Amino acid sequence: MKIDVLTLFPEMYDGVLNSSIIKRARENKLVEINVHNIRDFTLDKHNRVDDYPIGGGEGMVLMPEPIYRAINHYKTDDSVVIMMTPQGKTYNQKMAYEFKNYKHIILLCGHYEGFDERIRSFVDMEVSIGDFVLTGGELASMVLIDSITRLIDGVIERDSHENDSFNNNLLDYPVYTKPIDFMGMKVPDVLLSGHHANIAKWRHDEQIKKTMLRRPDLLEKSDECE
Ligand code: ADE
Repeated sequence: MKIDVLTLFPEMYDGVLNSSIIKRARENKLVEINVHNIRDFTLDKHNRVDDYPIGGGEGMVLMPEPIYRAINHYKTDDSVVIMMTPQGKTYNQKMAYEFKNYKHIILLCGHYEGFDERIRSFVDMEVSIGDFVLTGGELASMVLIDSITRLIDGVIERDSHENDSFNNNLLDYPVYTKPIDFMGMKVPDVLLSGHHANIAKWRHDEQIKKTMLRRPDLLEKSDECE
């Protein structure tokens, strides 16, 4: 899996790509992630990538030319070009599982007021990470990079993500570690019993209870309701 990011602020990615699980996945060549500056693709003599909105209004708008050139530079027959925008389809775990099967993803991040509308015709998909507006698509693209990378085979133990919240539309079960008694709050007895079948049943019941309480909307979509 290869991910190319197109952004005006490549330095924003330093921490995320060089820490923890993403760093290890890159070192182990399980994923290749490259970050490119859109400004390198401008033909403008002043290196401009944005301009005022035609017709008036606040803010700056990203121009189509540098973005068109940047996408075409990295795009191959295997590429899926994803634009990060609050106007896109709302991202979820199911999409993360779909995206991890792509060979090559190009993540296009805007900044400022937005993209010239014509840029939408160069992309395959538009994705939002939620109904709020960020200063740019960079943080949103990092959310995709993180959530996709951890699903790639070999990055973390399979068990670890197969039990994640949202798999089968259920939230994750509660987990505990030492001490067994913290300020009077005790780890449930069943977890200390060593009885694997009882533990599995307890965890499943807790998933259903928690999802019913916190996210009844999810439970309706889960197999539990069939
Ligand atoms: N860019 C700005 N806000 C965004 C959001 N919520 N999701 C994706 N990209 C964005």
